[in-house]
Amino acid sequence: MTPHSRRVAAVRALPWALSLWLVAGAPAAGAADTSAAQQLQHWSAQAGRPGDAAAGRVFFTSRHGGEWSCASCHGNPPTANGRHEGTGKTIAPLAPAFNPKSFTDTAKVDKWFRRNCRDVLERECSAKEKADVMAFLQGLKP
Ligand code: HEC
Repeated sequence: MTPHSRRVAAVRALPWALSLWLVAGAPAAGAADTSAAQQLQHWSAQAGRPGDAAAGRVFFTSRHGGEWSCASCHGNPPTANGRHEGTGKTIAPLAPAFNPKSFTDTAKVDKWFRRNCRDVLERECSAKEKADVMAFLQGLKP
């Protein structure tokens, strides 16, 4: 094969390779790869004890030295649309019983736990704190 014909062959194979990649399951954005129950289990295991819903409620609704609590943006209780304290953007309910999409995507959960905990506590939340928040949120029922 000349370099030219090799390039032509590669270009011809491209759409085929791409469709195969799509059919075989491209890493879908927003894939449902977790649940609130799994998150609670995961963080409880990491913490070495089950999440405590009462402690989670206090943690969620308290300020931790800064201007914001979790409830500042997510509402108290976080069962209805929240409103971003900074931007005014609407935030879908955090409690899983009120929002089938919450806690279904590990990457999204991790990203927002990291970002929001830094905003509120100026550090990442511990496994214990996450387990407590998950127990609190799981306990909120319509
Ligand atoms: C400054 C506003 C703000 C504060 C304060 C805040 N959050 Fe959030 N949070 C958001 C926004 C915005 C999203 C993304 C909503 C979306 O895109 O669905 C989010 C999403 C999340 C998610 C992902 C939920 C999912 O859909 O799976 C978790 C978990 C979360 N927040 C936890 C917390 C916790 C815990 C605290 C307190 C330590 C907190 N947040 C404080 C704005 C905030």
